Amino acid sequence: MNKYINLKTELKENILWVTINRPQALNALNIDTIKELSQLIQEAEDNSIKGIVLTGEGEKAFVAGADIKEFSSLSKEAALALSQKGQRLFKVIEDFPKPVIAAINGFALGGGCELAMACHIRIATENAKFGQPEVNLGIIPGYGGTQRLAQLVGRGEAMELILTGDLISAKEAKEIGLVNHVVTTHEELMNLSQKMMSKILSKGPVAVANSIRSINAGFEFEAAGYEAEANLFAACATTEDFKEGAAAFVEKRQPLFKGK
Ligand code: COA
Repeated sequence: MNKYINLKTELKENILWVTINRPQALNALNIDTIKELSQLIQEAEDNSIKGIVLTGEGEKAFVAGADIKEFSSLSKEAALALSQKGQRLFKVIEDFPKPVIAAINGFALGGGCELAMACHIRIATENAKFGQPEVNLGIIPGYGGTQRLAQLVGRGEAMELILTGDLISAKEAKEIGLVNHVVTTHEELMNLSQKMMSKILSKGPVAVANSIRSINAGFEFEAAGYEAEANLFAACATTEDFKEGAAAFVEKRQPLFKGK
């Protein structure tokens, strides 16, 4: 029986298929979903699980970001705690000793792009769209996006994506190194995820785990960047601009920012 509310899970041949299941909100990561993902990743340490494939319910969205509707009454302390919680979860995923593949079936925005970037490999359908649109809300990425995007695509591309909030296609994401592969259909997405995972699982598990550890070790010195991100995310959370940005999203209108 599935014990999660916002996740669907299926264990097939030692691969745990996880589907984020809030299609009514384009699979946005609310606080409960973050909690469930944290619990799931702990449980995935079990020996019966050799690898994880993460995807989103439906064909429209992988994850369309953090749940903006939970943002309206965020205090500075709550924003800091939220950012640290998300950062911790995504770091656990990034450092997970078994392969984690993001099968990106649609929008991967904000926290969705950050979640995909925390996974070891990203495969996307051609309809997928990527971006860090937080500036549209008057805030910054808070789940490691300012760090991992720069790591994956370089500082220049990361600056442009984060400062403009622009969305890019799967093809453009592939060109800048944000995704590993782009496929045409949802079926191909599942097939390639399965094939890639099976290939990795046919290798020495200790060598796979140590490869992940070794690659990630080279980025450990950037811990200060994550701390700065959480503090700056929290600093944005109490601005009038952020309240305006979140309200404008809910009211489906353009925000009017004042720089305060
Ligand atoms: N948080 C909460 N709800 C969200 C959401 C999010 N990040 N993204 C989408 N939704 C909800 C919408 O509010 C809408 O709910 P409603 O039917 O109750 O109005 C539903 O999901 C469908 O989204 P909608 O905006 O109507 O779809 P669309 O096809 O017109 O636009 C997007 C799709 C992804 C471009 C648009 O939803 C969007 O910009 N989402 C926010 C992306 C974002 O800023 N993410 C970073 C957050 S920090």
